[in-house]
Amino acid sequence: MIVCVCKSVSDRKIRASIAEGVDSFDELQFELGVASCCGKCADSVRDVMMQSGVCASRCGFEPQPQAVPMMFYERKAA
Ligand code: FES
Repeated sequence: MIVCVCKSVSDRKIRASIAEGVDSFDELQFELGVASCCGKCADSVRDVMMQSGVCASRCGFEPQPQAVPMMFYERKAA
């Protein structure tokens, strides 16, 4: 699957680069050019990196805190 449309980079290519030793987002950006044009693929590139076992601190991904479900209470008449 193509991850970066601008540079025509697939998830396989990203995984191959990681297998060859690329282990940071910046390095991947330099080697393959991902997220260096429009930048819309950055999150998808980070997802592939995470799936490939590159730790969060190296792919620049900051996990977002889970949203707390909002609760509504019915007001009862006195
Ligand atoms: S889709 Fe990757 S830089 Fe545009």
